[in-house]
Amino acid sequence: MKALCWHGTGDVRVDTVPDPEILNPRDAIVRVTSTAICGSDLHLYDGYIPTMRSGDILGHEFMGEVVDVGRENGALKRGDRVVVPFTISCGRCFFCEKDLWSLCDNSNPNAGMAETLYGQSPSGLFGYSHLLGGYAGGQAEYVRVPFADTGPIKVPESLSDEQVLFLSDIFPTGYMAAENCNIQPGDTVAVWGCGPVGQFAIKSAYLLGAERVIAIDRVPERLEMAEEQGGAETIDFDAEDVHDRLMQMTGGRGPDACIDAVGVEAHGTGSIDAIWDKAKASIYLATDRPHVLRQAILACRKGGTVSVPGVYGGFLDKVPFGAAFAKGLTLKTGQTHMHKYMKPLLKRIEKGEIDPSFVITHRLRLDDAPAGYRTFREKQDHCIKIVMQP
Ligand SMILES: NC(=O)c1ccc[n+]([C@@H]2O[C@H](COP(=O)([O-])OP(=O)(O)OC[C@H]3O[C@@H](n4cnc5c(N)ncnc54)[C@H](O)[C@@H]3O)[C@@H](O)[C@H]2O)c1
Ligand SMILES: [Zn+2]
Ligand SMILES: [Zn+2]
Repeated sequence: MKALCWHGTGDVRVDTVPDPEILNPRDAIVRVTSTAICGSDLHLYDGYIPTMRSGDILGHEFMGEVVDVGRENGALKRGDRVVVPFTISCGRCFFCEKDLWSLCDNSNPNAGMAETLYGQSPSGLFGYSHLLGGYAGGQAEYVRVPFADTGPIKVPESLSDEQVLFLSDIFPTGYMAAENCNIQPGDTVAVWGCGPVGQFAIKSAYLLGAERVIAIDRVPERLEMAEEQGGAETIDFDAEDVHDRLMQMTGGRGPDACIDAVGVEAHGTGSIDAIWDKAKASIYLATDRPHVLRQAILACRKGGTVSVPGVYGGFLDKVPFGAAFAKGLTLKTGQTHMHKYMKPLLKRIEKGEIDPSFVITHRLRLDDAPAGYRTFREKQDHCIKIVMQP
């Protein structure tokens, strides 16, 4: 089959690789009908996530048709149309039973590696390094889905691929980021990053009752989408001092909750800490560029919440933890507990409360994925979200 493979920083190629096969009794094989490129894939593309190997198949946002099932998988049958969560979870461990699906204890075969780095291992993920399981991803014609009797959800034929595909990651991710803010009536939520995750965080903050959402980015079409589709007020971080502007907009108090939907590759115009991060990361003296996390902690109102869906990988430098402590902030983080959100959010789509396809700007063939990665990375051609068909 054809699949998009990682070969090094900035080097992805469509290769011909062996078809996946059922390995465990709860597996399924899915023929991918639609798959998307995520901001998380850019962290792999840019070399920020360790333990990638040449030939690894990328992709964790995908859906398709079940073409084979393992003998213990009573939940799926051939022909089912499913959306697959990007986190792999057993459904039976301590964490899965507590609805903490992205922390599953049984889905990372390389848990020892993660334990060395993090103390304990999170769940495995599709197409996201050997540290997180070494699973082949879904930017491919076919994919093996482990624990497929508990993750994938069946979707009705009345909804198109484009309407349901983002249940695989970015809609639940934006939603959990907003839910983690514990939004109260009258609250103002600030969202850093108007990429796809930021866009869903904005919409979700309103769905969960926020009075105001302030969105921060510098890419004009992304700010425009946040305003027009999301109903947010916006700040262009290239043009204005974000902290000062946020204080001005909130009567000097700061936003009640701050969402970092940017993560490890934050840019910072003219700010010394961001220049410092970039220089250190480029010579491998730092693993992450936490400019936005610093800004969110400093801007958040006292007693507020900083919610971090943006991905971080290692040991973050000069994070103002003293400020977080002094202001009594709550910090909420993590990969999304996908299985908890997929069905309730499918209901919201079915009821017409949201149509997630609004973020799509580019539709490509899988063969065009290498060019797609470049376009998305460089934010060329007004690119916000790419969907591909194998
Ligand atoms: N927690 C999870 O489960 C989960 C799931 C999906 C994605 N993510 C992460 O969420 C983040 C966003 O994903 P995406 O697909 O929207 O990515 P993206 O790369 O399309 O968007 C990131 C946006 O941040 C903006 N940005 C950069 N520096 C900024 C700054 N200083 N202030 C404000 N905005 C800034 C960029 O201009 C860009 O528009 C990534 O880190 C991704 O890995 C996490
Ligand atoms: Zn993703
Ligand atoms: Zn589990």
